[in-house]
Amino acid sequence: MAANAQPSIAEQAQDVASKLATSVADTLNFADKQKEDVDKSGLPNLYIDEKAGSDTEGTGAELSPFATSLAAYQSLKPSPENDANPTSIVNLLIRKPDSVERNEWVEISTSAKKKLVKNISGWRKTEAKALAEGEKQQKEKAAQEERDRKRREEAQSVVLVDDDSKESKKTKIFAVPELVGSRVRINGWVHRFRPQKTNYFLVVRDGTAMLQCILSGDCIKTIDALDLTTESTVELVGTVEKVKEGQTAPGGVELIVDYWKIIGKAPGGSDAFEGRLTKETDASIRADLRHLELRGETATSVMRVRALLLRAFRDSFYKRRITEVTPPCMVQTSVEGGSTLFEFDYYGAPAYLTQSSQLYLETVLPSLGDVYCIQESFRAEKSLTRRHLSEYTHLEAELVFIQFKDLLDHLEDMICEVVDTLLTDPVSSEIIKTLNPDFQPPSRPFMRMDYRDAIKYLNEHGIKKEDGSDHVVGDDIAEAAERKMTDQINRPIMLIHFPKLLKAFYMQPLASAPDFTESVDVLMPNVGEVVGGSMRITDYDTLMAAYKREGIPSDPYYWFTDQRKYGTTEHGGYGLGVERFLAWLLNRWTVRECSLYPRWMGRATP
Ligand code: 4AD
Repeated sequence: MAANAQPSIAEQAQDVASKLATSVADTLNFADKQKEDVDKSGLPNLYIDEKAGSDTEGTGAELSPFATSLAAYQSLKPSPENDANPTSIVNLLIRKPDSVERNEWVEISTSAKKKLVKNISGWRKTEAKALAEGEKQQKEKAAQEERDRKRREEAQSVVLVDDDSKESKKTKIFAVPELVGSRVRINGWVHRFRPQKTNYFLVVRDGTAMLQCILSGDCIKTIDALDLTTESTVELVGTVEKVKEGQTAPGGVELIVDYWKIIGKAPGGSDAFEGRLTKETDASIRADLRHLELRGETATSVMRVRALLLRAFRDSFYKRRITEVTPPCMVQTSVEGGSTLFEFDYYGAPAYLTQSSQLYLETVLPSLGDVYCIQESFRAEKSLTRRHLSEYTHLEAELVFIQFKDLLDHLEDMICEVVDTLLTDPVSSEIIKTLNPDFQPPSRPFMRMDYRDAIKYLNEHGIKKEDGSDHVVGDDIAEAAERKMTDQINRPIMLIHFPKLLKAFYMQPLASAPDFTESVDVLMPNVGEVVGGSMRITDYDTLMAAYKREGIPSDPYYWFTDQRKYGTTEHGGYGLGVERFLAWLLNRWTVRECSLYPRWMGRATP
């Protein structure tokens, strides 16, 4: 091979093979040497170094000594008749710490031999005990298996009869407390169960409420009783009784079951429901298992209040003759700027998932008057904060023939009225009390703070910008600073009159200071901004100038611009983030807990 030439594949293979052969030969030599390591009378030598040796790693060779003579002896797997005289089968060579340098090995002394004999006897006793224990456990296991087998065999013959001749009323659990004394039939999932010798206590849920069910007699002798697991679906028939004095159960009643069966058995063992989600479960696994987490009490409670919250808003809108509409989610115009738009191909043309339905709400003011919608909005947020979702439920309203003060008053009224409704409702008030025991309904009037005063507040209270400098008028107040201020003030704040350049193109300028706008953000402690709203530009020319300023082509907005052409008027509105409002009300750490299947950057599963 030339000096600089690369070795051929065949040459490389030959080289590897020859290296391998040498290493195998070395290993064999070492093993032979160890085999040959015997004393004068032919007994094998085993080496022990208390300090440098190891009972777990050592082999007993000179280069790999044990740490104790007991381990050396045990390594020979000796029969008990050698225990009294271990050196009859092995020559034990000891190296003391002070003779390491000289590599001096001496035969085990008489006193050390005596100690070894004692240790061997101790080891034999421990071994015998472990063996006996193992056998005992084996026997117990076999006995248990036999008992289980017999129980199953017996259970096969216990068949409960669903007696048609006895009347039973099929009902949802929420209605059960009204049916004391009646025989009822319910279906549900086993939320918890506690098997006892003579009774099984089941807590069953059906989505409307929970019910404690008591099984006894033949009911706990069936195959289903043996197979029962949490989250199995069951059908139960029995008589409703009030719980005994001093005892508690959901709804104050319990079902004394006379017939029941499993409809769908959930797995037990390693796949059991209780093991899949625990307090220690990692957040990303929790997110993957959101469909199971939703069965938990906290998630269920949040979703229940969410439903009641939407209903309360709808009731309050209805009372005010504000009409619900359902604008499209697929759109071809942006509302809140291009940076958070989700774009998709719409039959070959670009389209977006809506960021806000506001512009569409504005268009129906002349036909329906005040309107609102509860619609999903989409934001391609590039950050992973605890208050940002990629898809959220946006409650938006648009009110006509109003002025800015009317908008603020309306917002305050709506928020307080909805909170009152939820605190009056027995279900939501109970949940609020459980999840947010310190919750106080906001006191009125809400603090109204001009943006310029907020800048002053931040500077006076040492709340700096992210780069450590003071805030100046014109700055966008970052999330952290906004939250610090809101938490310090610790009550709802209506932050008003933001600079024109910080806000969306459609906002009405302040008559007294046209660089600022008739805009409002409602800030809540712990969450920050829950509402964003404003008065809208009413004048055609001002709107055209606003498109131009923001670099937005006006053509795609022709339908929105027409509002200013065909009977313009003062109007304004707002958007409320439902998940943020819930996070505030129920003291949740993140808005992700307040969405059924939350979506955030990188997460659209399940
Ligand atoms: O302040 P925003 O962007 O205002 C608008 O979209 C207006 N067009 C609404 C209107 O006037 N009709 O959003 C309004 C509210 C915010 O205050 C916040 O509560 C919520 O929507 N929100 C979000 N919630 C969760 N995740 C996100 N990424 C959100 N972005 C806004």
